[in-house]
Amino acid sequence: MKPSRTLQSLTTSVFSQMSLKKKEKLKQGQDMVDLSIGSPDLPPPTFVKDCLSEEVQKDGEYGYPLTGTDEFKEAVSAFYGRRYHVDVSEREVLQLMGSQEGLSHLAFAYLDPEDVVIVPDPGYPIYAASVQIAGAEVYTVPLLEENDFLPKLEDIPEEICQRAKMIVLNYPGNPIPALPTATFFESLIDFARKHDILIVHDFAYSELIFDQVEPLSILSIPGAEDVAIEFNSLSKSFNMAGCRIGYLVGHTSLIEPLAVLKSHIDYGVFYPIQKAATLALTKGDTFLEEHRHTYQTRRDMFMDALKQAGWHVQKPQGGMFVWGRIPAGWTSLDFALEALEYGVVVTPGQAFGAQGEGYVRMALVHDVDRLEEAAQRLKKMLEDHNSVRT
Ligand SMILES: Cc1ncc(COP(=O)(O)O)c(C=O)c1O
Repeated sequence: MKPSRTLQSLTTSVFSQMSLKKKEKLKQGQDMVDLSIGSPDLPPPTFVKDCLSEEVQKDGEYGYPLTGTDEFKEAVSAFYGRRYHVDVSEREVLQLMGSQEGLSHLAFAYLDPEDVVIVPDPGYPIYAASVQIAGAEVYTVPLLEENDFLPKLEDIPEEICQRAKMIVLNYPGNPIPALPTATFFESLIDFARKHDILIVHDFAYSELIFDQVEPLSILSIPGAEDVAIEFNSLSKSFNMAGCRIGYLVGHTSLIEPLAVLKSHIDYGVFYPIQKAATLALTKGDTFLEEHRHTYQTRRDMFMDALKQAGWHVQKPQGGMFVWGRIPAGWTSLDFALEALEYGVVVTPGQAFGAQGEGYVRMALVHDVDRLEEAAQRLKKMLEDHNSVRT
């Protein structure tokens, strides 16, 4: 039996090629520093784990939850007020089984075949994939270094603006760890109002912003509530990726379509996870400070080590990744395949779209010693490459 044509069109050869090669190397017993996956290496706060273990012992916690609890929604509401200065009522919160679940189902809640969705290139793969799976059309906007990785909205053709139903963006992003400006968000809101487009802002890395810069939720910008919704998650903020819990925030009328769709699809998140997440959002501010500090230290150390390796890479302002422009003479895939030979797994930029060519993504998901080791191995690779070329 053949899978659907849609599914076949989604197979990303770059990811499978890298994964096969990585497996081969591991099988041969090679030590690999894997910087290719953005899965947190650290545990959630101890009080969250304690809550989880207590709750799973309670017999009453095993029924279908159906939706998010009031306590969870209240915790999100207070968190958004405290952290991002956004006034969100409990009715404006929709719990998700991870933001990925929500991002993928949103397309089914909103799109018809004639619709277009504007997605970033490079972009987090589910943005385009969800649109393709839902049978609608993808239009990519380039995120270029010379434009501070912000899309040039004025370059989007009028015909696309007319047909576009949504635009999806993420700051700080994956794979590009850039930050937005309030001015950009204001122009994005004007653009969305003018063309009746829903802004979908993915704020999964909202708590990983460095150098004392304050996080900027699009919902904190005046006028956003009419045209924008924001996804968030506990995966990266509280190291709870495996728990599968996230949420969508926005005007009730804008989040309702996804709530209706989900009522047909899933039965909610396991109660103990909801309770642990509620506690994390309520009591996790000190943890978040330390968490940010951990990633900033990793970033600074890795940047220094790469510099010493003779590779000058732009410092990420937030997020979990380094988006490195690769030295001349390589394609992204060649660079990534060669790095594998030296025991480092990186993701070739083209896996995130055509504009990712010339870059690789490296996740800061190891302690400083392993990151130092990765940088040393990359240094050796670059030295060997240069000595062959000279
Ligand atoms: C930008 C971005 N959005 C969403 C997700 C999905 O996160 P979650 O674990 O909440 O589904 C990820 C995961 O890597 C991500 O990088």
